[in-house]
Amino acid sequence: MSVNSNDLIMIMKPTLVTSALPYANGPVHIGHLAGAYLPADVYVRFLRMREEDVLFICGSDEHGVPITLRARKEGVTPQEIVDKYHSIIKKSFSDFGISFDIYHRTSEKIHHETASAFFTVLFDKGIFSVEESEQYYDEEAKTFLADRYITGTCPNCSNPNAYGDQCEKCGKSLSPSDLINPHSQLSGKTPVKKKTKHWYLPLDRFQKEWLEKWVVDHKDDWKNNVYGQCKSWLDQGLQPRAVTRDLDWGVPVPLPDAEGKVLYVWFDAPIGYISATKALFEQRGQKDGWKKYWQKDARLIHFIGKDNIVFHCLIFPGMLKAHGDFVLPENVPANEFLNLEGEKISTSRNWAVWLNEYLEDFPGKQDVLRFVLCSTAPENKDNDFTWKDFQARNNNELVAIFGNFVNRTLVLTDKYYSGLVPSTGKLTNEDEKVLEEIKKTSDNISKLILEYRLRESLFELMNLARTGNKYLADQEPWKVYTTDPERVKTVLYVSLEITAALAYLCSPFLPNTSEKLLSMLNLPAKKWNDIYGKRLLTAGHQLGKSSLLFEKIEDEAIEKQIQKLQNTKMNNVVAPSIVPQKTITSFDDFQKMDIRVGTILTAERIPKTDKLLKLTIDTGIDQRTVVSGIAASYDPEKIIGQQVSILVNLEPRKIKGIESQGMILMAENEKGELAFVSPTKEIGNGGVVR
Ligand code: 2FM
Ligand code: ZN
Repeated sequence: MSVNSNDLIMIMKPTLVTSALPYANGPVHIGHLAGAYLPADVYVRFLRMREEDVLFICGSDEHGVPITLRARKEGVTPQEIVDKYHSIIKKSFSDFGISFDIYHRTSEKIHHETASAFFTVLFDKGIFSVEESEQYYDEEAKTFLADRYITGTCPNCSNPNAYGDQCEKCGKSLSPSDLINPHSQLSGKTPVKKKTKHWYLPLDRFQKEWLEKWVVDHKDDWKNNVYGQCKSWLDQGLQPRAVTRDLDWGVPVPLPDAEGKVLYVWFDAPIGYISATKALFEQRGQKDGWKKYWQKDARLIHFIGKDNIVFHCLIFPGMLKAHGDFVLPENVPANEFLNLEGEKISTSRNWAVWLNEYLEDFPGKQDVLRFVLCSTAPENKDNDFTWKDFQARNNNELVAIFGNFVNRTLVLTDKYYSGLVPSTGKLTNEDEKVLEEIKKTSDNISKLILEYRLRESLFELMNLARTGNKYLADQEPWKVYTTDPERVKTVLYVSLEITAALAYLCSPFLPNTSEKLLSMLNLPAKKWNDIYGKRLLTAGHQLGKSSLLFEKIEDEAIEKQIQKLQNTKMNNVVAPSIVPQKTITSFDDFQKMDIRVGTILTAERIPKTDKLLKLTIDTGIDQRTVVSGIAASYDPEKIIGQQVSILVNLEPRKIKGIESQGMILMAENEKGELAFVSPTKEIGNGGVVR
């Protein structure tokens, strides 16, 4: 396909568009929408308008550790988690007009069968290598610690909370053995190493044989951010990648010697695109219909966020090619990340605008969010969503430019011609130029969408509304009406043509607005060939009932959202007086400490110090000397006979020339005041504290 100003060139191939399958472990937020779903939806709606053969596939990713972790957190089964979030996510997408042909799920039987069969083909072809290796194991939870079951310090950026598969702070892809100070998310314990067997995809061999060349061949047609990330992986040298895991949630590995093992979620999830296509055609009663979208003449386009690039550009193509029956992706227009008010969106910190909550606060305003997220889409670099910008784009662009132009045109037509489209007189140069703009805008919008440049494309659309506003301001029909009413007919006809063009051209971006405006114009939805370069209205056509297309968003509504985020921030901040929690320690380490109940027998100040007391403690084991920094909180004479908790097996140390043989445990408040940690009822000296 070539894209040039001759816009009517058809792609002529079946196109399968996919959006990343979201994990069914929580609702979806604006970052998801802006990254992988809205751009795909705009692209697909546009292709449908052009009457291309296109399908839009997605579904919930219901396997993997993100799901089981959430289930543990909520104290329910993984199945309950995926059932709950699958329907929440599906509803959000439908509410925002994301027009999937199917929204499937990977827990469905057809998916398990498809993923299993896919693995079996690769296994039978001898693609996998099998390796026994030592992997981290949690002895208490009696399970291997795959992916997010293990956390530790990132070797790249020292983030203490990096996952076993990735550090979310620096983005580096990790394996559990890379983590410094690893510990189990299940028991908090330091894991041990234990032997286990897994099947590996030989990405290193693929790289040498074809994968690197295949990526390099896409240098000019893939986005720079996508190509750059792939190249950097390739330059580091791909490694064989395990495609199985020791887990009990997922697609079981279809081999006799693989009990307790499932397919790695990143092996089964992209196969979900295939199983969803199959399911769609089963629903349509055309069992084999799915094949034409996955065979060599089809175009496969994956819309994803940047954290999924390696899986869609290297690993899944590796799997598809090894299998042999499938087409490889033609393009993977991945977006970068959307931040929120200057900070990374985070599910765990609740730093997000959730789609379901947005609609509660802004009912009916789906298109406003679609507009703002498209205008600010992180196409080439991370971008920021702010509520003030959201308000400004609604009020200054949708209301003041698009809505204002449409409203003035429709109100004047109603007033002068009772809503009947007037006939034109002779067109002036200015009229011709403005009408020509419609065709140019159509060309530009088309070209830019097909190049995945949706921000610029939307900008073109808004420019047409700007042109309309300028035309009305220059022609001043409300003034001319008294002197030259015939001329006004032409001016309003031209303005109505622009309005109708806006109604059609905005439909991929703003489907509800398009529908509303078409109804105001009393026009049917049309395909591209019926609007491109055509006059859209005829004299005498009766327009429908008009109303305001967009409404101003008041400061109050925005303040409410900002306040909501501020509350989230407050909830996230540990009160400054509370010392943050130290890194997890193991139970074994804790048990090494021998803490006993003891009684203070003598106490005296240590000369030339403010804080130190020399104590003699009866520990039940012996009587020993302890130096303790409690003189600011306690007078020595008042603490004789006081029961305390004492760490008795602490290595002795000399303080001010006195050997201290233990440490008294003290509680401290934010003012630095100390209090003994004592038993609340009589416990004999030597009693164990645990
Ligand atoms: O990152 C994610 O949310 C994954 N669930 C995306 C999977 S995309 C595909 F391969 F299914
Ligand atoms: Zn890191």
